[in-house]
Parts: sequence; C-alpha cells; structure tokens
Amino acid sequence: MQPPGSTENASGLGEIARGAAPIDADDKRMINARADVNQLLPLKYTWAWEKYLAGCANHWMPTEVAMQADIALWRSPGGLTDDERLMLTRNLGFFATAESLVANNIVLAVYRHLTNPECRQYLLRQSFEEAVHTHTFQYVCESLGLDEGALFNAYREVPSITEKDAWALRWTRALSDPDFRTGTPENDRAFLRDLVAFYVVFEGMWFYTGFAQILSLGRRNKMVGIAEQYQYILRDESIHLNFGIDCINQIKIENPHLWTAEFAAEIRTMLYEACELEVAYARDTMPRGMLGLTAESCERYLRFITDRRAEQIGLAPLFGEPENPFPWMSEAMDLRKEKNFFETRVTEYRTGGSLDWD
Ligand SMILES: [Fe+2]
Ligand SMILES: [Fe+2]
Repeated sequence: MQPPGSTENASGLGEIARGAAPIDADDKRMINARADVNQLLPLKYTWAWEKYLAGCANHWMPTEVAMQADIALWRSPGGLTDDERLMLTRNLGFFATAESLVANNIVLAVYRHLTNPECRQYLLRQSFEEAVHTHTFQYVCESLGLDEGALFNAYREVPSITEKDAWALRWTRALSDPDFRTGTPENDRAFLRDLVAFYVVFEGMWFYTGFAQILSLGRRNKMVGIAEQYQYILRDESIHLNFGIDCINQIKIENPHLWTAEFAAEIRTMLYEACELEVAYARDTMPRGMLGLTAESCERYLRFITDRRAEQIGLAPLFGEPENPFPWMSEAMDLRKEKNFFETRVTEYRTGGSLDWD
C-alpha cells in the first residue's frame, strides 16, 4: 500500500490494499487524502452528494427546446437590431468555447487532485453537463445556420474574449502539468487559485453578464428558444458555482495554514482583475447599450456579483455595490420555485425499458 498522500493513493490508481479494513469517513479529505478515494461510502461531504443528485434531477438536452421562433426572428431582416445581432454573436462566441475550457479544467486539472469520491462523483456529473452546454452551442449554430468558424473561433478573434480565456487558462496550465502534485503549501494554493479562477470567476462571474444579456432578450420575447436554454444552463451553473464555493471553503477548513492574509489579498486581486476583464467584454459586446442593459449597468451588476462571490469565500467586498441593478436575474435563477417550468419540454424522457434484446 502506498503511503498516505502519495500520488497513487491520491489518484486511486495505486495497488489495492488487499484485506485492509473499510475506510473511516473521518479520514476523508478534499485534497491530499489518506482514505481510499475509490470508496464512495461512508459519505463525509453530504453537500457534494446532494449536488450530484440535484444535477441528475435537472437533466435536460438542448434538442428538447423548439427553435422555430428563433430561426424565424433571426432570418427576418428587421427581426433584430444590428446591436442585438452583435451582442448575440459575441455572447454565443464566448460561450461556445468557454464550456470546453471549463470541462477541460475539470477533467484535466481538478479531478486528479480533488481526492474525495463524493466530490469526484459530482465532477463526473458536472463534466457531462458541460458537454450538454457545448452541445447547446452546436445546436444553436446548426439551427440558426451560423458561421461555425466565426462562432467557435471567436475566442481567438475577439480580443475581449481572448483576454478572459487567456487569464483563466494560466491557472489550468499550472495544474495540468503531469509533474504537478499537491501536498506542499505552494502547490495546494495553486489548486485553490484554479478553483477560484474557474468556479468563482468563470462560472460564477463571467457567465452572468452573458445570462443577463440573453435573458433580457427573452423577457422581450426575442430568441425565446436560446433564452430557455440559457435558463437551463444558468440553473446548472448555479450548482457548479455553489459546489466550487463549498470545495474552497472545505479546503480552507481542513488546511487553515493555506489561507494567509497574503493569499487572501492575492485572491481579491484575482477577483478584481476578473471583474475588469468582464467590464471590458460587456463594453465590447454592447457598445451602445440595448434592451435596458448598458455597459454601465452591466458594470454595476458585475461589481455586485464580485462582492457576493468574495463574501461567499470569506473575503470582504471589493466594491461595496449596494444593490443588484438586475433584480429580475435572481428570479430567473430561482427556477425551483417555478414548478411548471418543464411544461415547455417537447419530449419526455424514457426512464428505462429501452433495451431491445432480439
Ligand atoms: Fe457550463
Ligand atoms: Fe459549469
């Protein structure tokens, strides 16, 4: 058997400890585990298991959403203004590859180092949801007959998108190095930085301007199919975000030595930089403002969101933005209260019995 904290032990790929006793839930750890990471039970972090169940209960596919109204509006010469078309194209251009970046970060960077089976169970579910989200942009592209290259290459062509993605990729790159190991304060902090960059910033801040833009269109009965898909994505992403917040806070509890005043200041700088990048993106996406959204109101919204995220990981607010300029976004996020939400679904799931053995 490998010593506790060894690479093989942490990955779950080591030799099997033949005849060893069942694990003790108290030995489970978020990082640098001692307990066998292949044994889900007994559970320790019930919050992770509950998020896995919630993700499964929210299952959806983009192809269930009817796109006829969107197609008609997109093709109609006066259906959307030039500003709306620019916003929509840039918005889709950001998300089309953002979902892949997030998925790559989970699979190639986070999974290997997060040494807890209930958290890994959630990561597997989240990975699939990111695939569903990428599928959404393929489906939108196909439905509207958009230029595939323009959409999926936008992150290399639109500077405000490139800047955001390049910022986030730095943190993934550090962890995906095959020689990277957690277990030193320096490397454990690198892992925390990656969780902040992806769960708090990417999924918790940068997606929200995009959601606000599309849901704002939907509220005015424009591109209602895409708006419905974004609502499903937003519901998934709010669980991804909360999972990341819980992971960060649990790692802090288990490793208080990592969260020094200096490190907290560094994380605040990351949030500040991320907010600035998003403000630049909002200006680039809506140079003249539209649908009651202006770059200025998006900036206030972003500052409000940044403060909220800082608070969720135990940091003081950066901006002190007193109120949410888009209160309707909270309603759009709180889908659990809308029990009739799924009435618009165009297909039913088969829950079994679909195997044909002839
Ligand atoms: Fe996603
Ligand atoms: Fe996500």
